[in-house]
Amino acid sequence: MRVIVVGGGGREHAIIKKLKENKSIEEIFALPGNGGMAKDATCVNIGAKDLDGIVKFAKENAIDYAVVAPDDPLVLGCVDALNDAGIPCFGPTKAAAIIEGSKVFSKNLMKKYGIPTAEYEVFSKAEDALKYLADAPIPTVIKADGLALGKGVVIALTREEAFDAVKSIMEDKKFGDSGNNIVIEEFLEGPEVSVLAFTDGNVVKPMVSSMDHKRALDFDKGLNTGGMGTIAPNPYYTEDIADECMKTIFLPTIEAMKKEDREFKGCLYFGLMLTKNGPKVIEYNCRFGDPETQVVLPLLESDLFEIMQSVTNGTLDKCEVKFADKSACCVIMASKGYPEKYENGFEIVIPEEISDSVYVAGAKLGDGKLLSAGGRVLGVTAIAPSLKDAIDGAYKKVSLIKFDNAFYRKDIGQKALKATEDK
Ligand code: AMP
Ligand code: GLY
Repeated sequence: MRVIVVGGGGREHAIIKKLKENKSIEEIFALPGNGGMAKDATCVNIGAKDLDGIVKFAKENAIDYAVVAPDDPLVLGCVDALNDAGIPCFGPTKAAAIIEGSKVFSKNLMKKYGIPTAEYEVFSKAEDALKYLADAPIPTVIKADGLALGKGVVIALTREEAFDAVKSIMEDKKFGDSGNNIVIEEFLEGPEVSVLAFTDGNVVKPMVSSMDHKRALDFDKGLNTGGMGTIAPNPYYTEDIADECMKTIFLPTIEAMKKEDREFKGCLYFGLMLTKNGPKVIEYNCRFGDPETQVVLPLLESDLFEIMQSVTNGTLDKCEVKFADKSACCVIMASKGYPEKYENGFEIVIPEEISDSVYVAGAKLGDGKLLSAGGRVLGVTAIAPSLKDAIDGAYKKVSLIKFDNAFYRKDIGQKALKATEDK
């Protein structure tokens, strides 16, 4: 089998490494991939949003199967375009990817089908939003409707910040057309859990739970980033909570999408908050999370390619999805200055003995060397019987990587460790 993986970050590298365990796969092409994954896949310089280029490549190279990993191509309809060309895919169609592509859609879906989420209002005019905010409860949360590179959410701790957020999203168009509509929602509190789930539109098989660390600095300080590290499983996500989520959130969401004629097939990501009134949905993503994937897939004991094909074929009920009873920790090494200004082009040296558990996100090859080429440069994952050992293992591996401009959080997993100890 010849497979393409659309995308080029650490998540895609983790997917590719796992797919390689399947012996029926002869070659994997990453579109565009990055220099750091060149040993695991053939990188082809076609952008993840270049749908015509992707389809042309797939047809010309006798591709048997495609995995579309990032949000942009999914929301643009990459799966539909590949399917039209006769190529089976892992990932939702454009009609289903709207669950991430439009927050207005997902909030209205949850309201219509009684799926627990924060209370909200939708606005298409800045003046209406500002009027509403004049006496709305504070803190409040303001979200641009469309995709905004994970930056379209503002937690406003003061009324002033809320006004500023509305103005910058709706009037200054900080996120372009993604901010034509906004959602203003209730501020929720509680531990956050990420649950990625395989679904073929009928059956949902959740993966091991995880915890992201979104802020740039230790102790959840600093700016929001694409994610600075993850651990799995998430100790706050008990079996009882998992059962409750299956009944009140996962199955109702799949059913709702089917009823709306938007059957979802692929990986559905539930961003949950465990509030004192029960688990609520903070966001849906129509894809694997990054860097959640870098802790979840290394714990997967079943064959990823078989699961993906069963999702495509609608036979997930017959497919085993089994995870190791262990913990994993992934630490992201970013470029100093990320998520703001940073420099590229620093050499990265990864010792061969740990390269299996290094997932490269932003690097390129130059003069036979691996050079940094992005904000988040790589992730390093360790697996161990206990969370503590997984954390120690990940930091040990970090210390073995030579990358002068590296910046990373020192406290990945500490909050989870404390929660485990408090249990
Ligand atoms: P998102 O981009 O939707 O993942 O949101 C980014 C982060 O904002 C989430 O991980 C939460 O920490 C936070 N957030 C989003 N919505 C809410 C909410 N209604 N209440 C409190 N925090 C929120
Ligand atoms: N880690 C959050 C995301 O992938 O959006």
